[in-house]
Amino acid sequence: MKNIDYPSFVTEVPGPKAREILAKDKRYISPSYTRSYPLVIDKGEGVIVTDVDGNRFLDFSSGIGVCNTGHSHPAVVASIIEQAKKFLHMSGTDFYYGAQSNLAEKICEISDMADDLMVYYGNSGAEAIEAALKLVRYHTKRSLVLSFFGAFHGRTMGALSLSGSKMIHEKGFAPLVPGVTHVPYGYCYRCPYNLKYPDCNIYCVDWIKEDLFKRVIPAEEVAAIFVEPIQGEGGYVAPPKEFHQKLYELCREFGILYVADEIQSGMGRTGKMFAFQHYGIEPDVFTLAKGIASGMPLGAMVSKHEIMSWSPGSHASTFGGNPVSCQAALATIELLQNGLVNNAAEMGEYLIAQLRKLQEEHELIGDVRGKGLMVAIELVTDREKKTKAVDERNEVIERAFQKGLLLLGCGENSVRLIPPLVVCREELDKGLSILDEVLKELRK
Ligand SMILES: Cc1ncc(COP(=O)(O)O)c(C=O)c1O
Repeated sequence: MKNIDYPSFVTEVPGPKAREILAKDKRYISPSYTRSYPLVIDKGEGVIVTDVDGNRFLDFSSGIGVCNTGHSHPAVVASIIEQAKKFLHMSGTDFYYGAQSNLAEKICEISDMADDLMVYYGNSGAEAIEAALKLVRYHTKRSLVLSFFGAFHGRTMGALSLSGSKMIHEKGFAPLVPGVTHVPYGYCYRCPYNLKYPDCNIYCVDWIKEDLFKRVIPAEEVAAIFVEPIQGEGGYVAPPKEFHQKLYELCREFGILYVADEIQSGMGRTGKMFAFQHYGIEPDVFTLAKGIASGMPLGAMVSKHEIMSWSPGSHASTFGGNPVSCQAALATIELLQNGLVNNAAEMGEYLIAQLRKLQEEHELIGDVRGKGLMVAIELVTDREKKTKAVDERNEVIERAFQKGLLLLGCGENSVRLIPPLVVCREELDKGLSILDEVLKELRK
C-alpha cells in the first residue's frame, strides 16, 4: 500500500508567490488561454504537482492528457538530457538523423496494423491535423471532408474548420477553410435522433449515406472523414464499437479515407496503445501529439504507405520531429509498452467502477463513461430530462482545486478524470474521496 500524504497545503491557494506570477501573467500573456483556476506549477513528479508556494496537488489532468508517463519521468528526462548534449536541432526537413526514423519505425510497430505506414512530423496536434487535411486532399484529388459535431481537432485554420465543439473557438475567425461538413457523432447518452442503442442500428452513420450523400454532398467528392475514436474536448464521448465499424465500411464503399484523430485518445490513455484498437479499425491516416513525448512538443501524422504520395517540398516544418522530442517519444513508448498501457486498463476499470458507485449516491452524475484512463462524468441537474449542470460542473472543478485535486472540464457539463498512467489505486481513491466530498458540499 502506497502512503499518500498529498494533496497538502502550506499556504492558501493561490499563495503569495503564485499571486505574483499571476499578476505578471495577466499583464503580459494573451488573454485567449482558457485557464479555469490559478495553479502556478513549480515542479511535477509522477501524479504530484507542487506549486510555487510549496502546495502539493494530485493531478488528474496530466497537463491536458499529455504527461501520460507522469510528470518528469526519470527515463524520459534522461533521454532528453542525453540527446540535448549531442545536438538540439538540425531540421529533419533538410537533413537526416536517426531519431526520426527510429521513432517512425516504432510507431509503425505499436500500431499493429497490417499495412506498411509512413510518418510525417510536426510540433503539435493541430499541425498533425493540418498535415492530414492537406494529405487527404492531395492524395485523393477530392476537396470535401466530413467531421463531427462535438469534435475538437485544434485551433489553426484547417483544424478549426474541422472542429465543432464550442462556439468560442469559431466566433470571430470566419471565413474558415471551405469544404467541411459536420455530422452528428455517436453520442448515445444524448442521441441526436432520439434513438436507443442498439435498436438504433447506428442510424447516425446510415444517415450520412441515405440522406447527406443523396441530397447534399456527393460522396465521390469526399476525400476523408475525420473522427476522434473517443471524442475528447467535446465531452469524452465513447461511441459503440459498431459506430466506428459502420463508419469505416462507409468509407470503404465510397473510396473515402478514414482519419482517426488519436491526439488525445492515443499513447496508452485508453488502456490500449491507440483507441482505434478497441474498435477493430485500421485507419488510413491517424494523428498523434499530446502524450507522444511526455510533454516535449511533437505531433505526428501517420498514413498507410501508398497514401503518403506527396512530392518533396509539398509539406514540411522547420522544427517538426525535433531530435530531443523524438528521443523523449522513444523513451515514452518504452515505458508505455513496459506496463503503463496495462496499468491504464486496470486502473481505468477500477476508476469507472468507483465512479459508478458515486453515481448511485449523487444525482448530479448523469453519466459515467470512457475507456482506460480516459474517463469523464457528465453532470445533470435532472436525470430524466438530462438538464446540463454547467454551473455545477464549474463549481466541482473549482472546489476540487481548492482541496488539491486538479481536474478539467470537457463538453459543456462534463468533468474529465485523466490522471497520468502511472497512477495507483490509492491515488485514485484519494482523488475520488475529494470528488465525493465536493459533490456532498454541492448538495447542501
Ligand atoms: C483530439 C484532439 N485533436 C487535436 C488537438 C489539438 O492539439 P494541439 O493543442 O496540440 O494543437 C487536441 C487538443 O486538445 C485534441 O484533443
